[in-house]
Amino acid sequence: MTAVTTTGLRLRVEECSARLAAAGFEEPRSEAEALVSAAAGGLPRHLLYATESDLTDDQHARLETFIQRRLAGEPLQYITGEAAFRLLTLRVDRRALIPRPETEGLVEVALRLVPTHGPATVLDAGTGSGAIAISLAMECPAWTILAADASPAALELARENAERYDVSGVEWIEADLSNFSVWRFLPPLDLLISNPPYVSEDEWGDLPVEISEHEPRSALLAGPEGLDLILPILDGASMRVKPGGIVVMEIGEKQGERVAEAAREAGFTDIRIAPDLAGRPRYLIATQPLRGD
Ligand SMILES: C[S@@+](CC[C@H](N)C(=O)[O-])C[C@H]1O[C@@H](n2cnc3c(N)ncnc32)[C@H](O)[C@@H]1O
Repeated sequence: MTAVTTTGLRLRVEECSARLAAAGFEEPRSEAEALVSAAAGGLPRHLLYATESDLTDDQHARLETFIQRRLAGEPLQYITGEAAFRLLTLRVDRRALIPRPETEGLVEVALRLVPTHGPATVLDAGTGSGAIAISLAMECPAWTILAADASPAALELARENAERYDVSGVEWIEADLSNFSVWRFLPPLDLLISNPPYVSEDEWGDLPVEISEHEPRSALLAGPEGLDLILPILDGASMRVKPGGIVVMEIGEKQGERVAEAAREAGFTDIRIAPDLAGRPRYLIATQPLRGD
């Protein structure tokens, strides 16, 4: 019998996977595939197993650097420079938060509540990499999308992502949304969608180092109760969301009661806290009352 030897990229994946597994990573094979494919210049993953070729010396050195960065706790997506979000593969780096699966769910909630074929004016408040705004622009071409963030670096990344998908209609706005006067300059909205920073000071210390030491603090931390941006957004939205318009917002799983109360105080009705796919109470849904309600 002839012994089968593993060679080429397949061998690189196996070696990398073994090192990640030994260091306790939970999905070593899939991460190894992502790292080898990125080191090989963005080779589609299925081709890793379909070729006898190997990494060049430069690519091999790059892979080693990638593995060292991963072993030191840097998020995989910052190393490969890419994150999947709904239909998109977004460029990501330290300029903005890595978009999360929960936020894909937030978009899903919004799409169930607002008619997707007709026109609608929508604000993505705290757009970061542009994940929500670009998804909505691609999935609902009849909508007018505005996307705001206080971070010029995040907005620069969002614009790069929009260019990548040839999305030209989003209006990118640099603004501090905790400043109430900013809201006066926004148009009347059919939908306000937001994944704001919502981590409280107490929770900050419990975050995995992979998050707290690598992702932008200003994208995560929001004061003593994690409400420093949520509350101003609700106040601003109460002024700018049209009668019958909707607010959907991702929140921390312990914030539901407090955020629902704030939404009520801001004048919204039909307030619900909806669960994410894991069943955790993560989405505020609120409606601007019709005049006369
Ligand atoms: C949790 S991240 C969400 C990013 C992106 N929407 C996503 O879901 O991946 C929150 C975003 O809010 C932005 N932000 C923080 N404080 C802000 C403020 N006062 N005004 C506007 N944006 C703010 C941060 O820069 C960050 O991009």
